[in-house]
Amino acid sequence: MKVRKAVIIAAGRGTRFLPMTRSQPKEMMPLVDKPLIQYAVEEALNSGIEQVIIVTAQGKSAIEDYFERSPELEHFLEQKGDTERLSQMREIAGMADISYVRQKEQLGLGHAINTARELVGGEPCAVILPDDIIDSAVPCLKRMLDIYEKYEAGVIAVERIGDEDTRKYGIIEPKQVAERVYQVLSLVEKPEPAQAPSRLGIVGRYVLTPQIFDVLAVTPPGKGNEIQVTDALQLLLKQQKLYAFELEGIRYDTGTPLGWLKANVALALKRDDLGPELREYFKKLL
Ligand code: G1P
Repeated sequence: MKVRKAVIIAAGRGTRFLPMTRSQPKEMMPLVDKPLIQYAVEEALNSGIEQVIIVTAQGKSAIEDYFERSPELEHFLEQKGDTERLSQMREIAGMADISYVRQKEQLGLGHAINTARELVGGEPCAVILPDDIIDSAVPCLKRMLDIYEKYEAGVIAVERIGDEDTRKYGIIEPKQVAERVYQVLSLVEKPEPAQAPSRLGIVGRYVLTPQIFDVLAVTPPGKGNEIQVTDALQLLLKQQKLYAFELEGIRYDTGTPLGWLKANVALALKRDDLGPELREYFKKLL
């Protein structure tokens, strides 16, 4: 069955970005001049996804406003004769078919995904965590959807990580089956380096089969007393295979101030309108 829907998880509190996130969702933080959430929506659309479901929470209404039409702003730009910006603004409001659902309690990533169950409606789905920005020639999710179709099984994105970082990621036990593709023999959420089955850490892209929802509903709380999708996928391994794609390109963890700064600098340096001047500025600064 074709994957038509993507679930974008935008329900986290963003505590690592306090005080900024007191009144602003972290998903609305800019990466150069677009909010993080837009990169996630664009990756989904560029991968062939038709319908986007955003899981939000209290205090996240700026996300919904962002993808709405803004008649006042459009009128203002029209009066000014700024047709370029006007068409950009209309494009954003019309870019995707988006539905929203709220996670009412913060009980973990697995729980957040399960909140979208009704909207996903028994279909397979992609899941995107907008903190993980992946800059690659072909969208990471598109590569994963190709693997999903080939192997007819769920797919998660992974990346090689350092020894100390096993505590920050889900880690897989891999069996390589093709270039950059692994069968996942087991997976564990945020293990100590000594217990980690490899140094391949899970990154925020998943292609999930419909069965995940039944398993999520009975997955007990795990690491951090939260319902973990990693644990649900481990349980699901009893019924079906799971694959991992070692992502291409560069991934930025914009969930931390340092990662977010790096992503801003790297993406700005690549832009023709900003890169040259920024490069000169850094030369002076350093
Ligand atoms: C979540 C997942 C973890 C994964 C990570 C990727 O953790 O639970 O398995 O490695 O996303 O970003 P979080 O970063 O929400 O703590």
